[in-house]
Order: sequence, then C-alpha cells, then structure tokens
Amino acid sequence: MKFIYLNAADMAASITMDDAIQSNKEALLAYAENEADIPMRMTVPVDDYEGAALFMPGLMKPTDALGVKIVSVYENNPAMGLDAVPATMILLDAETGYLKGIMDGTTLTRIRTGALAGAATDLLAKKDAKTFLLIGTGGQAESQLEAILTVRSIEEVFVYSRNQDKRKDFAKKMQEKFSTVRITAVDDLERAVRAADIITAVTTTNHPVLEADWVQEGTHINGMGSYATDMQELPSDLYTKADLVYVDTYDAVAESGDFKTPMNQGTFGMDVLTGMLGKMIAEEKPGRENDEQITIFKSTGNAVFDVAVADEIYNAAIEKNIGTWIE
Ligand SMILES: NC(=O)c1ccc[n+]([C@@H]2O[C@H](COP(=O)([O-])OP(=O)(O)OC[C@H]3O[C@@H](n4cnc5c(N)ncnc54)[C@H](O)[C@@H]3O)[C@@H](O)[C@H]2O)c1
Repeated sequence: MKFIYLNAADMAASITMDDAIQSNKEALLAYAENEADIPMRMTVPVDDYEGAALFMPGLMKPTDALGVKIVSVYENNPAMGLDAVPATMILLDAETGYLKGIMDGTTLTRIRTGALAGAATDLLAKKDAKTFLLIGTGGQAESQLEAILTVRSIEEVFVYSRNQDKRKDFAKKMQEKFSTVRITAVDDLERAVRAADIITAVTTTNHPVLEADWVQEGTHINGMGSYATDMQELPSDLYTKADLVYVDTYDAVAESGDFKTPMNQGTFGMDVLTGMLGKMIAEEKPGRENDEQITIFKSTGNAVFDVAVADEIYNAAIEKNIGTWIE
C-alpha cells in the first residue's frame, strides 16, 4: 500500500481557489440531492489531557470522495508552543477502502471555507459588485478574501475586526499579496457596510456585528461565523429584510444562534429560509432576479465540503506531481 502526504504548502500549490469553489458547488448540489452520506460528528473526550478529538466523516457519491477530518481541541497546547486546534484529513479510496492520502486539516478548512463563501457569492451576488467588506481578520479571513476576489472584479476592500492594530496589520499584509485591489482597514463599520456590495462576516462574536438598517439594496452577505446556539453574527431583522436566505445545510438552522435565537423568540420561523443553496444550483429554488435584492448565505460547514475539496486537492497534487509518497 502507498499513500500521499500533503503538507500546507503542497496543498496550496496543488489547487486553485477557482477549482475549490467549483468542487464546493458540486458538494452543495450533491448534499441537497441526497448524493452524500454524512454521518453525525463523533466526539471522543480525552479527559486526562483536557482535550477532545472530533471525527467528521463523509462520502460524496458523484466523485467517490471518501474520508474523515479529525479536529482535536487541546486548550493547554499553546502553553507548550503547539496549536490549540490541530487537524488532519484522511482520504480513502472509495473502491477498495485503502488509505490514499493524508493532508493538513487546518489548511483544508481554510481553503474549503473560503471557497464555500466564494461559491455562494458567485451564485448570489450581483455581477458587477465592486466593493467588499470583510468583518473578522482571524485564521479564516485570508481565504475568505481570496475567494471573493476570485469570483467578482472587486476594486475596493474594507477590513474590519475588533482590534484596530490587528485589522491594520491584516489589511497591510493582504495589500501586499493582492496588489491589484485597494485594501484598507476601516474604523467606521457603518460607513463600510453602507458602501459594500458584498459583505463576509467570519468572526467568533456572540452578538450581531452589524445593523440591518445599514445594509443597502443589492448587497450579498455571507455569514460564516456563528456555529453554536449562543452565537449570533447577523441580526434577526437582516434575515427578515433579505429577499433570499440560503444555507449550506439545514445544520445551520439547528446549530446557529442566527436562527435559533430569533426562532425561539418568535421573531421569524422556517419560512424566512429560501432553502439549501444546492437546491438553487439544481434550479429548484430561485436565484437573484435583480440588482436591488438583498441575499444572505449562512453557513456552519459540513464534512461534505471537506471530502469534496480534499479529493480535488489529492487529484490535483497527483496531476502536478506534488507531495510525498509513503509506502
Ligand atoms: N462556516 C464554516 O464552514 C466555518 C469553517 C471554519 C470556521 N468557521 C467559523 O468562523 C469563525 C472565525 O474563525 P477563525 O478561525 O477566523 O477565528 P479567529 O478566532 O482566528 O478570528 C476571529 C475574528 O473575529 C473577530 N471578531 C470577534 N468578535 C467580533 C466582533 N464583535 N466584531 C468584529 N470582529 C469580531 C476577531 O477580531 C477576529 O478577527 C469561527 O466562529 C469559526 O468557528 C466556520
């Protein structure tokens, strides 16, 4: 038996953001059409070391992408100079069940989460969007920016997060990397929201990061952050103001405070949702009809995106002769 090992640099060299976006569109469709088997996430507590390992398996049938992402949460790791949340992706050959690849799970999460917002933006944002506001400058932020720049001809990017120094540093670093657009850190969030054609929120906030009144006609918003019932990133009245509200999977409704809080308070019900984005790809649900509509994509992520993008990376690495084979 032999398998390929891909580190973060191998992965980045193998796949383009464009290809990752395309494979997420295929995954959105496969999930919505019941062409994916995604068992419940399994958590194994490791009490002796105050840690836990989370196992997220999945199979995407149309491409035979099969594997499991393992994300560990060890809060004492940083004191030892280690990552608090190390992650690994394991890919299997769907035909034989043999191990075929191991890759860095943290890099995979970044690529596939950026590409997921990129897919949604490509499907929902107005075609001539020129301005983009990124809220949150943490681990996920760079790939979120790259994805939006991939799907639209953006001219101006505004960057906002809680800490002024950090958002300035991030904007400077991104300006060096993406030199064809103007990237600036902003202090006035309301002004940036009012000026943005596309907004991505990718934060760990517990309370909404913007106000619905600030959001202008025609804006597309990606809510990538809140994944637990005590976290709310987008305000409830933005969901009722929006014309189209898509989710990656219905887990987003079950897990995120963006839906749970207003639904528990009776602010809105399931009818606020247009549906799963894959249903729009299948042409069973509507897309944007004009440049005045406000659209939202709310995501909490799913293993189907991990296996789909990991398999795409594996295939691209083999084609480009990248990575280390292990017998
Ligand atoms: N949807 C998905 O598939 C998916 C995948 C991976 C991560 N996530 C989620 O995305 C979120 C961000 O992940 P990360 O790794 O970048 O986190 P991180 O901790 O590295 O960064 C968090 C960022 O949020 C900003 N922030 C927090 N509260 C804020 C507020 N009130 N206003 C403005 N900015 C605020 C911080 O300043 C920081 O820049 C997390 O909640 C994570 O679980 C979602």
